[in-house]
Amino acid sequence: MALYLGLPKRRTRADSVAGSLPPAPVDRNTVPAAGLVDRYGRRATDLRVSLIDKCNLRCTYCMPAEGLPWLPKQAVMSAEEVLRIVRLGVDILGVREVRLTGGEPLVRADLLEIIEIIRTAFPTLPISMTTNAVGLEEKAEGLKSAGLTRINVSLDSLHEETFRALTRRPFLGQVLAGVEAAAAAGLGPIKINAVLMRGINDVESPGLLAWALERGFELRFIEQMPLDADHGWTRREMITASEIRELLSMEYVLTPDPRARDGAPAERFEVKARLPGNGPVLGSVGIIASVTEPFCRDCRRTRITAEGRVMSCLFSREDVDLLGPLRDGASDELLGRLWQEAMWVKPRAHGMDHAGLDTPQFVQPDRNMSAIGG
Ligand code: GTP
Ligand code: 5AD
Ligand code: SF4
Repeated sequence: MALYLGLPKRRTRADSVAGSLPPAPVDRNTVPAAGLVDRYGRRATDLRVSLIDKCNLRCTYCMPAEGLPWLPKQAVMSAEEVLRIVRLGVDILGVREVRLTGGEPLVRADLLEIIEIIRTAFPTLPISMTTNAVGLEEKAEGLKSAGLTRINVSLDSLHEETFRALTRRPFLGQVLAGVEAAAAAGLGPIKINAVLMRGINDVESPGLLAWALERGFELRFIEQMPLDADHGWTRREMITASEIRELLSMEYVLTPDPRARDGAPAERFEVKARLPGNGPVLGSVGIIASVTEPFCRDCRRTRITAEGRVMSCLFSREDVDLLGPLRDGASDELLGRLWQEAMWVKPRAHGMDHAGLDTPQFVQPDRNMSAIGG
């Protein structure tokens, strides 16, 4: 037990920008008593729990073609352990919503059980999931019955060949059927995430938007982030938010959505057809400008990886183990304190929003997106 009464074992980069400053210790006395707050006054209420590191796609901006060395099963949180962490978050630390991520959460055999036990414990808690929708068609109704509230689906192309080039898998048909099944099962409002890649699917952006608007899905275009396992990201290749707005404005008129953004990654725009005198409002579109227009100042997210480690930021190069102490019998009080301390040192910003990104100032995290959980 004494092992966990000291400071968490961690390489802490305790100052402003993820990936740029040397480690500094946490002053335990300055960690506030309640909630998951950080030194910059942010409070994390949005818990993202990765259920598994495995994925059945190999998106080029995320995974290498050959996949990654997957975690052994015993290293991954069990359903009960996931529930314990969620309970701790909701009952003690002020978490108000839970998002299940991966890898690909649908790959997890006991996914329904996990959702059911969280739902039974918390009848009104919003539980969402971010998925690639492969295999969702058969599972959508079961997920809804188990208590899942809604889903976000990753979909970068509506063309079989482009989809295959981007994901290295021929599963477009399955994804489209999965999205429709989720809508029919009542897992909405459904949001679609599309990462645009230069010369590959950027030209498709107005077409993707038309497809989403017709079906009442909220499409969000995401700037590609340096979170690929191949470390192939370059600023020049990234399609920026401003380019995305330009691409879309060939066919649509975008007006900033007056609704409060409320800490969400996406900036929303109202969409009208580009017609003489403007057409009616067709819906909305989001742009997630993680790199060029970052939203770190309002971030409310706290992440738990599949092996039960707290990541305060997508770009953290440090994390804090909760699962080891949990398995060794740590109390809620101790686990809560470890989690709070991990969040207290959350960096002010990720540090890639300036031209210095391609310089040594910014260090890409060791984990790729699938290993963190979007
Ligand atoms: P909802 O809009 O409530 O459904 O949530 P969301 O947008 O957070 O959900 P989703 O899991 O679909 O995330 C969309 C994308 O936003 C992720 O894939 C990331 O690309 C980006 N994103 C989410 N959280 C962060 C974050 O903390 N930092 C950065 N830089 N990007 C993030
Ligand atoms: N940059 C931006 N978004 C990414 N995603 C995965 N890798 C990256 C990246 N390098 C997105 C996926 C999915 C979500 C979980 O994260 O498209 O929608
Ligand atoms: Fe799998 Fe998501 Fe990574 Fe694509 S982005 S390989 S769907 S984890």
